[in-house]
Amino acid sequence: MYTASHPLDGKVLYQIYPRSFRDENGDGVGDLKGITRKLDYLRGGDKSLNVDVIWISPFFTSPMADFGYDVSDYCDVDPLFGTLDDFKELLKEAHARGLEVLIDFVPNHTSDEHEWFKEARASRDNPKRDWYIWRDARADGSPPNNWQSVFGGSAWQWEEATGQYYLHSFHAKQPDLNWENPEVQQAIAEAMRFWLDMGIDGFRVDAVSWMAKDPSYGDDPIRIADGKEYIEQVYGKNGPRLFDYLSMIADVVASYEKKFMVVEAWLPEWTNMAGYDEYYRKINAAVCAPFNFSPILAPWEASRFKSMTDGFLEGVEPGDLPVFCFSNHDQSRIASRIGVDEARAAAVLQLTLPGLAIMYYGDELGMIDRAIPRDQVQDPANGGLGGRDPERTPMPWDDSQFGGFSEVKPWLPLGDISMENVANQWERPHSMLSLYRELLNLRRDNPAIHKGDYRPIRTPSQVFGYTRQSGGVTVTVLVNFSAEFITYEDADLSGEVILATHSRDTDGVHARIELGPREALIIEHR
Ligand code: NOJ
Repeated sequence: MYTASHPLDGKVLYQIYPRSFRDENGDGVGDLKGITRKLDYLRGGDKSLNVDVIWISPFFTSPMADFGYDVSDYCDVDPLFGTLDDFKELLKEAHARGLEVLIDFVPNHTSDEHEWFKEARASRDNPKRDWYIWRDARADGSPPNNWQSVFGGSAWQWEEATGQYYLHSFHAKQPDLNWENPEVQQAIAEAMRFWLDMGIDGFRVDAVSWMAKDPSYGDDPIRIADGKEYIEQVYGKNGPRLFDYLSMIADVVASYEKKFMVVEAWLPEWTNMAGYDEYYRKINAAVCAPFNFSPILAPWEASRFKSMTDGFLEGVEPGDLPVFCFSNHDQSRIASRIGVDEARAAAVLQLTLPGLAIMYYGDELGMIDRAIPRDQVQDPANGGLGGRDPERTPMPWDDSQFGGFSEVKPWLPLGDISMENVANQWERPHSMLSLYRELLNLRRDNPAIHKGDYRPIRTPSQVFGYTRQSGGVTVTVLVNFSAEFITYEDADLSGEVILATHSRDTDGVHARIELGPREALIIEHR
């Protein structure tokens, strides 16, 4: 059994990709004023989702080689998104609605246009040289080892001027900071304090695994998959000092009251607590939790979802915050990944599992990936069909020409806005948005779903289910992962269906219930 104990348990976080939420200044790219304008949709207005927390992907000064994940000033806003005053206004308005604000923080690398890197690359004896990772070439001029960048190709970039390579685990315009240098640790802590002092509620911390390298800087192993050789990233991340660095960051957060951070650690699909344990035990779990990406990594199969969810919730300890993640700006949209009908069932899991629930903007509309023609691709990590652009298309608010996202042609094309947008889905009782609204209301108002104890249950193999219980209220959640009708039987179950992903003839449940293909149900017990 799992019992909620963290203050954020039961809450809902909504991720905003600022380029794509709402363009207020008419340049085709979303901005901070656009987010402020749409806050009523998120919380506190007549037509609100009423989520509890937002996480805004980077809006800091940046040449936008990786759309803001290449920061050239940690303490300012890029003019594309607005000004610091715009951010302060956003924060004030969010707080006035009871909405908490997490910002994205990128400690592993800066932009190559950051002042720190400009100094570092100027000469070998510059005081900031050691803030980044420089190595000599091998005798034949090749890079110091075979490490690969996440975006493809060598992770080392040659600098003719000073005759050394620098390390970039991502884009060549994102040089890795040298976390072994105490000045770097201090500079990052200062940047974090800048925002915490302003009143933000915490951070989503980017790409943490890369912050610590193996001191050997040894060659990575060459593996074979599908008959092709590839280099597995091993020594360039998860080094022995990783948890020292993350604890430093967590200490900064913990030195303020009621602040929190969620860290982007790409742990494998859950099979046991190895890996997850380290993040909860070696970092102050009161202020830090790792994303659990298993719902993205696992195939859409009842047995996998059952083992990873039941097992994980069995393995966490009192005080830990589970953060199951189904979607984000780096992953194919849920409805494209698993299917449009299946996405309705996934929504039920997303919002009835314990912990901090996470939604990515547009999940609530069932947005699907939009294939981007090759000549319009924007993402620098654009292997395959358009990289990550397909899941970053603008939010469709209404059926006006540019979907109410902008008055001009947006930076990425919209999907079919006449079919699916906030305005028309709000009115349709069986739309995806109506389903999400029902689920969000239940997560807030039904004490069992909000913070109730979680217990695994026995189900037919194609069904994943569990109960949540608080005081006298118990609900059973059942999700049919198959395309068949399946009967669930439990002699003690007597109650009523309070939510269904598809229309049903009857709501009463007595000892047995038939689940339709891909149907998910919430049953409240009498
Ligand atoms: C993870 C972020 O989610 C992704 O969008 C970014 O490209 C990399 N980290 C590099 O910062």
